[in-house]
Amino acid sequence: MSEEDNADVQLEARLREQEYFRPSAEFVGQANATDPAIHDEVGEFPDGFERYAELLDWDEHWDQTFDGSNPPFFEWFVGGKLNASYNCVDRHLDERKNQTALLWEGSDGEQENITYQDLYRRVNETAAALRSVGVEEDDVVTIHLPMVPALPITMLACARIGAPHSVVFAGFSAQALAERVDSADSEYVVTIDGYYRRGEFLDHIEKADEGVAEADNDPEVLTWYRHDEPNAEVSDDYVPVDDLLDEHKHETVEPVARDAEDPLFLMYTSGTTGKPKGCQHRTGGYLAYAAATSKNVLDIEPEDTYWCAADIGWITGHSYIVYGPLALGTTSVMYEDTPDYPHKGRIWEIAERYDVDIFHTSPTAVRMFMKWGEEYPEEYDFDFRHMTTVGEPIQPEAWLWYYKHIGDEDAVIVDTWWQTETGGHLITNLPALDDMKPGSAGKACPGIEPALVDDSGEKLPAASGQAGNLIIEQPWPSMLQTVYGNDERFISTYWGDFSDTDSDDWRDWNYKAGDGAVQAQDGYWRVLGRLDDVMNVAGHRLGTMELESAVSEVQSVAEAAVAAREDTQKGEVPDVYAVVREGVDPTDEVRQEIVAAVEDEIGKFARPANVMFVDDLPKTRSGKIMRRILENISNDEGLGNTTTLRDPSVPEDIREQVQAD
Ligand code: PRX
Repeated sequence: MSEEDNADVQLEARLREQEYFRPSAEFVGQANATDPAIHDEVGEFPDGFERYAELLDWDEHWDQTFDGSNPPFFEWFVGGKLNASYNCVDRHLDERKNQTALLWEGSDGEQENITYQDLYRRVNETAAALRSVGVEEDDVVTIHLPMVPALPITMLACARIGAPHSVVFAGFSAQALAERVDSADSEYVVTIDGYYRRGEFLDHIEKADEGVAEADNDPEVLTWYRHDEPNAEVSDDYVPVDDLLDEHKHETVEPVARDAEDPLFLMYTSGTTGKPKGCQHRTGGYLAYAAATSKNVLDIEPEDTYWCAADIGWITGHSYIVYGPLALGTTSVMYEDTPDYPHKGRIWEIAERYDVDIFHTSPTAVRMFMKWGEEYPEEYDFDFRHMTTVGEPIQPEAWLWYYKHIGDEDAVIVDTWWQTETGGHLITNLPALDDMKPGSAGKACPGIEPALVDDSGEKLPAASGQAGNLIIEQPWPSMLQTVYGNDERFISTYWGDFSDTDSDDWRDWNYKAGDGAVQAQDGYWRVLGRLDDVMNVAGHRLGTMELESAVSEVQSVAEAAVAAREDTQKGEVPDVYAVVREGVDPTDEVRQEIVAAVEDEIGKFARPANVMFVDDLPKTRSGKIMRRILENISNDEGLGNTTTLRDPSVPEDIREQVQAD
């Protein structure tokens, strides 16, 4: 952090401390984690984590819990073998084959209750279908599917045959799909003809058409249909999954025993450089940690109806719609469309219809519900026992509204801090053990050792209320294994800054989260947000460099920078500052082209909030763009220190230009 950044976070850190809220006696009486000794027991490093692995069924027991001999390439449950689809499906059949595993609600109220037995059949047939087109163990299968049952079924089918999946969020564009197919060297893409958005059928397969044409790889495309027949134009080159399923009806596929360290999936996420990175997650440690946190943090029981209203295309959906909840054998709800279609009470209507016990959403969604008003939830009769937020800091006001109007001042709330890279929750309360404090994620999870360091890597005193760089000092089972195909990037992004990278001792290696945080005197952590050039738009992570490289695709643009503007609804939104080429008029048309470029390269969800034309960008003497100054302008704050700029008059000029617009 620069001095100036530091001053900002220090200021933020002094924000008013909130009072505590106690979980109800009724909640505590039934909770999964009620013994405070869990912190000491799991914290017994590394063997404490064995109790997480013991939640799973193993084909072969591990020989060694943790191997830290080659940092930062840590290994977990070494020598163990297991299959994730077996753990999420087969092992539940004896006790609950007729219980609903996935409860899917389509856009127009269509509904599918998929029991564990159905899931078993569908995963097996899909696994046979994938094999029949040539998918082998260790082949990466790219899945570009929306929130329909085909998505978790395809993921579990991949897991069954040991083919790591790489799910690309359906909202990502064709270009983003192509980039991920190439980066993962993936020879298979699984897609669908279309799905419903606000009640309208959306052609999705055109993204596969364009993406495959664009990719250097020449992947085979398999396509699901949203209905019995395709509703969009489907290329003859694509293999209809339904045909394969007919051919493989009632076939079963032996789950492949995977090494605990074999990759289960890749999940691409934005970083500070232009290209998204493929976070590679292992099978054993990941699944063990996702299952354990689903049990202890989300308090999931098999008899619950659990609803995480995220998209499976992001890590939250992987860990806490698919792998964690299904490993525990619960009933998990999936919903296809947006929360306001066909009316703003849709979420609560579904919650009432299925009698949802546990509800999981993002602060962005809570702010939206709050804006719509409490009259919508009030119309429905639902009763949550437990609620979760994830993805961004939640403002105390939004927390209090969620607690009162959705939780009826009775449900507990866990504010879970984690990342695509961490695989599961790292900082959050165990709800029966720790009181809630609005705006704070809470305590570290058992066995997790967060700490704060200043920019030089000097550790700040614990619970000092001072802001610093958040690091995690001790490895944990669901941490990413590496950046797919790029060990160097893995080391430089997460370890280079705050570790002794020459050391062979894992204790000298600290994971850098990229977030700023504060630990209050009571030990509670408040995560303040990213310290790097990554913004968080409605809970979606976007790299400024990625956005900038999309904008620079526009012919008329000479140079551009992107800054995060604070937004009461979405948390942050991207503002584009663009300099046009000599002789080009900065017209609305150019503005449209810039917006279109971002939508094409990344996806509509990344659409810039504002495009501002300026004469010059603020740069240091060495030519580095000072995005922080642009951020200050976007957020109507003081310009801060501009003395290091090559031309210190630039920011003021920009501000005038922006205000004149
Ligand atoms: O800045 C933190 C923020 O989201 C980032 C991780 O984004 P992503 O990998 O997309 O994963 C989101 C879902 C796990 C973090 O670096 N973040 C996530 N959860 C919280 C949070 N910030 C504050 N409080 C949280 N509970």
